[in-house]
Amino acid sequence: MTDNDVRAAELRRALADSLEQSGNLRSPEWRQAVERVPRHLFVPTFFRWTDGPGGITLWAPVGKEQDPEQWLELAYRDETLVTQLDRTLVSPTDRHVTPHDVAEPVQGDPTSSSTLPGLVVRMLEDLDVVDGMNVLEIGTGTGYSSALMSERLGDKQVTSIEFDPGIAANAAAALKLAGRAPHLVVGDGLNGVPEHAPYDRLVATCSVRHIPRPWLHQTRPGGRILVTLAGWLGGYGLALLEMGDDERAEGRFLPGTVSFMIARPQAPEPITSKQRSAAFKMLADATPRPTAVGHDIREDWTSNFVVQLAIPTARQETISRDGGPFVHYYLDTTTESVAALTPEPGGGWTVRQAGPVRLWDNVEAAVGLWREAGSPPQEQFRIRTDGHTQTVWVDGPDGPISWDLTA
Ligand SMILES: C[S@@+](CC[C@H](N)C(=O)[O-])C[C@H]1O[C@@H](n2cnc3c(N)ncnc32)[C@H](O)[C@@H]1O
Repeated sequence: MTDNDVRAAELRRALADSLEQSGNLRSPEWRQAVERVPRHLFVPTFFRWTDGPGGITLWAPVGKEQDPEQWLELAYRDETLVTQLDRTLVSPTDRHVTPHDVAEPVQGDPTSSSTLPGLVVRMLEDLDVVDGMNVLEIGTGTGYSSALMSERLGDKQVTSIEFDPGIAANAAAALKLAGRAPHLVVGDGLNGVPEHAPYDRLVATCSVRHIPRPWLHQTRPGGRILVTLAGWLGGYGLALLEMGDDERAEGRFLPGTVSFMIARPQAPEPITSKQRSAAFKMLADATPRPTAVGHDIREDWTSNFVVQLAIPTARQETISRDGGPFVHYYLDTTTESVAALTPEPGGGWTVRQAGPVRLWDNVEAAVGLWREAGSPPQEQFRIRTDGHTQTVWVDGPDGPISWDLTA
């Protein structure tokens, strides 16, 4: 054993202690997995968040070569370690940038990471993954969470699928180095992996707008699915569903503010300049009116989720035109509708709307019903799906308040 191995084992024990203290790690079996799986092998390099000039976020590359001690210590912190960035907004050809590709801190949007260990084990505990189960993971990422499952359940019981071939190749190499060999698949996890079905448990470490029908086919009756439901307005909710006998699943949202990067084929396209100009044109004749529900409603975790449920196909951007105030545009290209929210100098908000769907009327109605119900937190919301229609609901004074999200 090298000094490095001894230090890594110490750091793993300390990590397991802190995960137990935080309540995320609750069983001796998962503790043993955390103590045994060498996370540092899965994150040979990663990006660290740092403040850039003018408050922008920059990502600094970190690796064994630069500072071996710091790298090892960071690998065992309860932190998400970003391993890939999409830099197309700043540099159109740099879609998948890894820490190997840069020497200095850079801008970009994370597209792959090793999820913080506390959340990984919390999800395995919440999903009640126990010995003997057959599990499908969507989003292999670095392979660390697959390794934890393989360590406890055995390689044959774990299947993991990753969309990005480069990320998948790195994960395969790291798993081999760690002595683990789960079934690894490169492809779109929204189709599941029928070859190794049926699964007792399905866990997704990317979020989805709609729970895909193949997941329901491939999870056995009584089996469970744990996935973060997401949308295009940055609302998230960690949902735990149980399969019925009829390929329908029903469940509830769990506490906490859990968010994951959205599954690649479901991520929103950026708003184009053509769509933006069409929206401005539509709004030119719209009459402004005051609204008691401002854009700031979205600062709260649950109310943002409600807004997203009310206008599930809308995207949003904030723009100042010709030196005027910043206006928040909600654009729904599915229905060709738009709403623009403007802050008033003395406080309050006005809204302008155009198109067949009055987007902000829908938001006001949904938020009004949710408030009448006493503004219940997200863990009181429930979800049901047959793979086509997905319904989210919460109890109100006059019965359930529900939203249908058809795939
Ligand atoms: C947060 S990371 C995974 C973390 C991973 N479990 C770990 O511990 O390292 C999410 C991963 O999901 C992948 N992903 C996104 N959309 C996907 C899809 N449709 N199918 C499979 N993987 C997907 C991303 O490429 C990314 O690597």
